Amino acid sequence: MKPHTKESEYLMPLEVAGLKYRNNFVVGSGPAVKTLDMITEIERWGWGGASLKLAIDPTYISKPPRYRWLKKHKYHAFTAETRLTFDEGLRLMEAARKAVSELILYANMSYAGEQGDDGWIRMAKKYEDAGAHVIELNMCCPNMSFNVESSGGQTHVVSGASVGSNPDIVSKTALAVQKAVNIPVFVKLTPEGGKIAEVAKACFDNGIASVGSTGNRLAIPDFDIDNPEHGICHLQDEPTLACFSGPWIKPLALRDVYEIRKQCNPDDMVMGSGGIERWNDAVQMMMCGADFIQICTGVMIKGPKILPKIVKGIQQFMEEKGYKHYRDFRDVIVPRITPTDQLTLYRGHAVVDEEQCTGCGICADVGHCYAITMKDEKAKIFVDDCTGCSTCTDVCPVSAISMQVLEKID
Ligand SMILES: Cc1cc2nc3c(=O)[nH]c(=O)nc-3n(C[C@H](O)[C@H](O)[C@H](O)COP(=O)(O)O)c2cc1C
Ligand code: SF4
Ligand code: SF4
Repeated sequence: MKPHTKESEYLMPLEVAGLKYRNNFVVGSGPAVKTLDMITEIERWGWGGASLKLAIDPTYISKPPRYRWLKKHKYHAFTAETRLTFDEGLRLMEAARKAVSELILYANMSYAGEQGDDGWIRMAKKYEDAGAHVIELNMCCPNMSFNVESSGGQTHVVSGASVGSNPDIVSKTALAVQKAVNIPVFVKLTPEGGKIAEVAKACFDNGIASVGSTGNRLAIPDFDIDNPEHGICHLQDEPTLACFSGPWIKPLALRDVYEIRKQCNPDDMVMGSGGIERWNDAVQMMMCGADFIQICTGVMIKGPKILPKIVKGIQQFMEEKGYKHYRDFRDVIVPRITPTDQLTLYRGHAVVDEEQCTGCGICADVGHCYAITMKDEKAKIFVDDCTGCSTCTDVCPVSAISMQVLEKID
């Protein structure tokens, strides 16, 4: 069947470890990549790749899915999730490989048995036989053993984020798996534990072709203070730490990718995921160092049809700026991120446009500011007391306040 859009043939094809991607957008492993129909739709909308839902062996914490999409708060939170059994994963991979022709298929997998590399290797070999283009080691999911440990439970299983912050174990396992199969092994890492760049570097040093970040964080979602014994999910009793994704995590995800990119070589392929919904999110992720972009929550909420608009936006951006390839703008922010002790700062103060000021008084309430008073139903700034922090420009509902820039501070 023909793709839904011409934009699928856009100008960012890339080749990694011998695999030809028609573009660098991959639907991230999750509930939108767990049936054959979903995968064929992903191909038709022009995506470069699809990472099949995690298969975990032996089966561990696989429950009916419980999700909340709190769009007002801009986050998605899941508390429970169905993982594929290893057999289901293999069957899906075999079927997908027959059904699609252009999509690069990732086997997102995690071994949850006895420690050591043998289980990982066995899974990877079987996935290779089933037709996977890429083995994606899931060293990232924070909602399995890591959740159990973080919320006071006990488990003997070391899975996902519990293993993902150990540079030695991750890089050795990745290397052992890579030696055992002839397809590329990519590693998807967790920011939990604070060592994502160190782990990524250890993997690249061991010759792994691509490493990336999941962006997800465990957090406590909003809950009802009148009903604290219940969590926010429907059809579930208790509150729990939940796995956060979507726009709320984007700033953290950008930092993860920036940190990985700083640590590795320009030719190392970095994947970024976390809160990417629109074309400019994707550009920001590439400017922080990403080659691949994975999107999961955006596809869960709006379907794989989101890709063409993202692609069109990037194309227009590239035309306007004269960029020929994403590599022309990848990393641009990386060397520009400046240590806080070296910032260039200017003296200056707030200025009120009295014509626009409605006299609402919101700016005069700013708790750390003694420079604003209300007079004749207009805000007045005492410039000598203004520190230049600029909070008032952001709280004013009608944008009546701007900053007057003066000389550079030595
Ligand atoms: C409900 C749900 C299930 C997920 N399942 C997996 C998974 O099975 N394997 C995996 O590597 N990542 C999984 N992820 C992580 C996503 O692939 C993605 O890396 C992350 O959510 C950040 O991107 P996003 O904000 O676009 O969702 C899951 C995310 C969500 C929200
Ligand atoms: S810039 Fe900061 S200190 Fe100055 S008036 Fe606004 S809130 Fe007050
Ligand atoms: S918040 Fe804006 S509109 Fe309200 S008093 Fe201050 S300057 Fe005027």
